[in-house]
Amino acid sequence: MDVDELKKNFLARYGGTAQGLEVFFAPGRINLIGEHTDYNNGYVLPCAINFGTYLLARPNYERVVRLASENFDYAAEVTLGKPLSRQGEHWVNYPLGVYDQFAQHKVKMQGADLLYYGNIPNGAGLSSSASIEVATAVMLNDQARTDLPMMELVKLSQQAENQFVGVCCGIMDQFAVGFGKKDHALFLDIATMKYELVPLMLADYCIIVANTNKRRGRADSKYNERVKECRKAVEYLRQVRPIDFLSDMSLQEFISVKHLIPEATIRKRAAHILSENQRVLDAVAALRRGELPLLGQLMDASHNSLRYDYEVTGAELDALAEAARRTPGVLGSRMTGAGFGGCTISLVHKDAIANFIESVAQQYHQATGLQAEFYETEPGDGARKLS
Ligand code: GLA
Repeated sequence: MDVDELKKNFLARYGGTAQGLEVFFAPGRINLIGEHTDYNNGYVLPCAINFGTYLLARPNYERVVRLASENFDYAAEVTLGKPLSRQGEHWVNYPLGVYDQFAQHKVKMQGADLLYYGNIPNGAGLSSSASIEVATAVMLNDQARTDLPMMELVKLSQQAENQFVGVCCGIMDQFAVGFGKKDHALFLDIATMKYELVPLMLADYCIIVANTNKRRGRADSKYNERVKECRKAVEYLRQVRPIDFLSDMSLQEFISVKHLIPEATIRKRAAHILSENQRVLDAVAALRRGELPLLGQLMDASHNSLRYDYEVTGAELDALAEAARRTPGVLGSRMTGAGFGGCTISLVHKDAIANFIESVAQQYHQATGLQAEFYETEPGDGARKLS
């Protein structure tokens, strides 16, 4: 659906004219490597993609905000100045969480009619939720003329998800959605929030996203469980010195003190985080030197660590990654995002794409009975006002 069509749909739904109607866009993201490291203050390497959320907004000069979506039937109307509460498990919790954050920051907001449309596959681990949040934050910042820098909008969006939606997510997704840059990956150190743009020079290769199309089920509670397990690991390791996050240790130091963690499961969780941090550093170096086979190996190693140590992959993601690795022209393949379903990314030679899609789809169907979907994505720019 293009912007003109969306505008038509907006007017059909809300009436009136296009005067004052503005359009905002926020992308989704993939993460090249550095999974579950963000809430452990580690390294990540995501990039924004060319799919995302469009948000059409028009002031209504009332004290109400109306929220509707082209993707979901559920619509909502809330009154500004009154406390906002969660609406079941509905999509509106993401934008409402952002309104709630702006209200907590005492921003004077105006009533508005809003229409959202996303072309990111929903629930696929490509950050459709962060995309909705950051689109809302950019729109509110513009309409309330608060002039907050993008980093503030990113943090508010993460807080919205932590406090209002109830997922203890890190900041990677909102960051990538806010700061994405065409043809680049973002190498971010969460401890300092300093980042570098790394040109995504893939020569004859490209990144293919494959969707397991598996419903993610109780993914949020499993995600929160991993957050707690990492905190527990920190408690054990504080016998050595007073660290706050797992990433305050190097992999070498961890290896020498890991016996202080008596529970095997917690030890494995920590092992994933510290080895994954090292893999991000190695992947950035490999990308800069154009060593794509090494990048592929690191992707494979990351997936294996998420499979055996962090245990967030599941049969579907494993089947997709394994099928990809068996296919000619593939340098590496791994799950991307939180896991428990969602998508893999694979580094595939451009001449091998058609065969890749056919062969992986067939192997995956044989292994799981499910139909995979494939997308060619390009690293795109971050959230912005379009018009
Ligand atoms: C989800 C969260 C992120 C990050 C990833 C895993 O996408 O929102 O903060 O933790 O999972 O890397």
